[in-house]
Amino acid sequence: MNRSTTNHVQREYDRLAPTYDDRWSSYIDVTLSRTLDSLQFDGNEHVLDVPVGTGELAVRLLKTWPRLRIDGVDLSPQMLQQAAAKRSLSTVELHEACVTELPFPDNEFDCVFCVNSFHYFREPRSALAEIRRVLRDGGRLVLADWCDDYLACKLCSFWLRIVDPAFHRTYTQRSCETLLAKSDFQILDVRRFRVDWVWGMMRFETRAGLG
Ligand SMILES: C[S@@+](CC[C@H](N)C(=O)[O-])C[C@H]1O[C@@H](n2cnc3c(N)ncnc32)[C@H](O)[C@@H]1O
Repeated sequence: MNRSTTNHVQREYDRLAPTYDDRWSSYIDVTLSRTLDSLQFDGNEHVLDVPVGTGELAVRLLKTWPRLRIDGVDLSPQMLQQAAAKRSLSTVELHEACVTELPFPDNEFDCVFCVNSFHYFREPRSALAEIRRVLRDGGRLVLADWCDDYLACKLCSFWLRIVDPAFHRTYTQRSCETLLAKSDFQILDVRRFRVDWVWGMMRFETRAGLG
């Protein structure tokens, strides 16, 4: 991905990192609990969280399934540092990288999470292709992000496009479904939910290939 655009994201999150968990605690709680809602694991899977941010999704996953092997990837060294400082994440491998250049071999993971971040990706097709490459056939991608089907969210996105150089764009459920289908993901389940009066979210549970 173009270095000057990823620089905006990295700078923004390096600045936000020290206060991120406190400032956004209720947003984090709602979005991550709704993302994990009714997902099942055997407990020994290899999971990638991209972008991992401060690692809060991994904290929640390991509480329920302590034997999961989790890798986390993020552009922002400061967000990764916040994750690395959490004692409950001592088994999680953290990597500084862009979602379009994941430092893993093909077919490495059983499940990939991509949460609260798709709206930053300048090249969503390349990001999904790269996620597909590292996910085994039949593995799961769980993607959750802001949803343009909620008017307030759409207006907020329009405003962010003007004022925030890190932000890229949001999608309707239908346009995201199309992107996923074109990237070889079969949709198993779709949910929409509200976080507050601004943010409306969508969560996709998908299966790679075997369609
Ligand atoms: C809103 S935070 C979400 C973090 C985490 N997924 C969560 O839900 O708590 C967005 C994260 O995406 C990361 N990010 C944005 N674009 C990225 C990219 N192209 N590759 C890797 N990380 C990226 C940012 O550095 C930031 O940590």
